[in-house]
Amino acid sequence: MATIISIINQKGGVGKTTTTVNLGASLAALEKRVLLVGNDTQCGLAASFGLAKNSRRMGLYNVFMGEAYLEEAIRKTALEYLDVVTCNVLIQEEEARLEEHVRTNLQFQKNALKSVAGRYDYVFIDCPPSMGPLTISGLIAADSFLTPVQCELFSISTVGRVSRTAKMVKDKYNPALKIAGFLLTMVNPRASLTEKIIEQFRAMLRDKVYQTIIPRDERLSEIPHHGRPIIMFDISSPGAQAYLRLAAEILAKNE
Ligand SMILES: Nc1ncnc2c1ncn2[C@@H]1O[C@H](COP(=O)(O)OP(=O)(O)OP(=O)(O)O)[C@@H](O)[C@H]1O
Ligand SMILES: [Mg+2]
Repeated sequence: MATIISIINQKGGVGKTTTTVNLGASLAALEKRVLLVGNDTQCGLAASFGLAKNSRRMGLYNVFMGEAYLEEAIRKTALEYLDVVTCNVLIQEEEARLEEHVRTNLQFQKNALKSVAGRYDYVFIDCPPSMGPLTISGLIAADSFLTPVQCELFSISTVGRVSRTAKMVKDKYNPALKIAGFLLTMVNPRASLTEKIIEQFRAMLRDKVYQTIIPRDERLSEIPHHGRPIIMFDISSPGAQAYLRLAAEILAKNE
């Protein structure tokens, strides 16, 4: 049965999608069967795999609207062990309809994932930059959540909001929900405050912070251009190596 991990942070642009794509690809490279689910209507996942969002193929929208089974929305990627479900929402009305539907069917995704969980070792859910219904749905469906945080002083306050939302979901819907970990992203090792910020995070969150930190690496921002995870176009880059280390750290923790 798959371990289901939601990637959440209400703050935008912190590396949720980048982490979903590259952690997933790194685990797939280690021959773990991985499914990525795009709960974000902006669907950075589609762009990361060079999948046209405007193709009217089956996607998460159809699944939530009851028009398709999750199984039918699964798409293959260039990596044998890696599959993806994108969020094929194109227009504002669809986004509003989807959010309303999810809000009134918060348990739906959890049940839908049950039907495919036996085929995967890991499922990662890429959540949007809000604590709205699509993130709540992701947290209800998950065994644990992983929160990327930008390595900056003010990021410490975003942790509180994530933790409060997770606690609400745990108390109300999903008592088994755990913290997978907080992941420091976009770390600039040369910035003068970096050491200090990393120390503060470790002092506050202790073993809930991954040992692996993700450096700022411009090659990671080229992913939509290549339409592939970074290990497929520059495996020796610092970003690719960091996500491979994170995958190994997660496997060591879980196995
Ligand atoms: N370690 C990194 N080094 C350099 N650029 C990065 C790194 N991680 C992510 N980026 C870039 O930063 C931007 C935001 O990253 P990403 O899309 O993963 O964040 P997000 O949290 O999913 O954003 P949103 O909340 O909008 O969905 C992207 O352009 C991405 O390519
Ligand atoms: Mg994103």
